[in-house]
Amino acid sequence: MGWYKNAVFYEVYIRAFADGNGDGHGDFRGLTEKLDYFQELGVDCLWLLPMYPSPLRDDGYDVSDFYGIHPDYGTLEDFKAFLAAAHARGLRVIADLVLNHTSDQHPWFQAARADRHSPFRDYYVWSDTDQRYRQARIIFLDTETSNWAWDPVAGQYYWHRFYAFQPDLNFDNPAVQAEMLNVIAFWLDLGLDGFRVDAVPYLFEREGTNCENLPETHAYLKRIRRLVNERYPDRILLAEANQWPHDLRPYFGNGDDEFHMAFHFPLMPRIFMALRQADHQPIVRIMQAMPPIPEACQWCTFLRNHDELTLEMVTEEERQWMWREYAPEPRMRLNLGIRRRLAPLLDGDRRKIELAYALLFALPGSPILCYGDEIGMGDNIWLDDRDGLRTPMQWNDGLNAGFSSAPAEALYLPVIDDERFGYRRVNVAAQRADPGSLWHALRRLIAVRKAQPVFGGSCCEFIESDNPTILAVRRTDSGETILALHNLSGLPQRLSLDLSRWQGARPRDLFSQEALAQIGAMPYALTLQPYAYRWLRLEQTTDDWLEADGHPRRDL
Ligand code: NOJ
Repeated sequence: MGWYKNAVFYEVYIRAFADGNGDGHGDFRGLTEKLDYFQELGVDCLWLLPMYPSPLRDDGYDVSDFYGIHPDYGTLEDFKAFLAAAHARGLRVIADLVLNHTSDQHPWFQAARADRHSPFRDYYVWSDTDQRYRQARIIFLDTETSNWAWDPVAGQYYWHRFYAFQPDLNFDNPAVQAEMLNVIAFWLDLGLDGFRVDAVPYLFEREGTNCENLPETHAYLKRIRRLVNERYPDRILLAEANQWPHDLRPYFGNGDDEFHMAFHFPLMPRIFMALRQADHQPIVRIMQAMPPIPEACQWCTFLRNHDELTLEMVTEEERQWMWREYAPEPRMRLNLGIRRRLAPLLDGDRRKIELAYALLFALPGSPILCYGDEIGMGDNIWLDDRDGLRTPMQWNDGLNAGFSSAPAEALYLPVIDDERFGYRRVNVAAQRADPGSLWHALRRLIAVRKAQPVFGGSCCEFIESDNPTILAVRRTDSGETILALHNLSGLPQRLSLDLSRWQGARPRDLFSQEALAQIGAMPYALTLQPYAYRWLRLEQTTDDWLEADGHPRRDL
């Protein structure tokens, strides 16, 4: 089984994490000093947001040199030292690969715009009119009015799916295809464990289509995977494709020729819906609508990340509902999403936050945590764009939340300092010292999940109960069965489950280790406290629900 199938991932924004040289910006030195932290938490793999030289108009997703490290973050040597130290601790590291576009400051674009005959001209997508590819939607709706921008130097329009300062690369050009394969090989040769590949649906444009998920795009992604398979087995490719289930499935190809993993965008907003509606239906329905994926592949599941909580994969009605419920202030909305962190979204309610994580961890997929959400950090909706989700990590209640020794005015963004979520109250040191904290609860969830390989499998059945506020999931793999029960409501709930197919088994609570009453022929009754969850491993006392080889009967 590939290591990524049952791994816990952690998203790191380097600038926000730890400042090693006191200039107000997080860097590789600071991050290296914090490696013990990840081990303590129990995560397996870090995902680094773009670390490359960049004018930083989109926090590094506007790359101006694919082969370097942003000077704010240190040098290539600092990166290598960080990677070696991470590997020495058994931690893996993947990084963002921004394939679709560059910064307009990239030398390729500068050369392209300056001279029609430059070999770099054809690295980008130019047009004399802004009327081509009209069926392609605009992604950054709050800022952009067109996917074409006029370049006065070039005397033509250029194509961009994101900000106008991020011209799209022209993947119809074989030279661009080759360049990006070289970039990939460069970082994998340095030992990186793979990539989170940014914005994959948009690599090619074709008239008469919405310019997403095109066959040409899949064909190029398969070239990348071929390179990885041939030269870097054990490294992974994780797709950022914010798409509906039927468009997402092809990114896994036949299991070994495209992505190893893809973010589970359709599930994420539905966890928030289920929690607010106290109803398991949104989760059950989307999970049942997901096509199965190849055995070697895995979903990457998440609650929040460094972007707005995207509402692209919901219906218009659901979007309006989510906005009403979760973004009552206009400032909380951005593009088609919500710029808030996990803890404020869930009313700072410790029980709801922990339950959201329990749901994420119980469902199929390898979960990813967003830095700061493990302690319930807050946000600052008054900052620009998505900056309010990218404020300094809150390590302690000291100067600059322990993030940096620089004067507060020198920090890249101010620390969160409000009553409820500010660093004086919400910080790693305080939570580490308190065994009842969110941080400890999450650490326990990670440990329990990792001790049960069953969670890395794909088997997932929703067990009918008489109570829609309960989400009851069965996970089974190689002789193990776990029932994970979650109370989505703020009231105690009684539930009664038909577990007669496991008659004779005895459920054991994976957190308290308590053994519950043996399962009989009658419905199994339990009570769950408000927003509580229980994960029960079925321990057999008789073997009539097992096959002769000791595995659970397939029909169960
Ligand atoms: C997705 C990234 O997550 C986001 O932060 C970025 O702005 C766009 N891709 C463009 O690269």
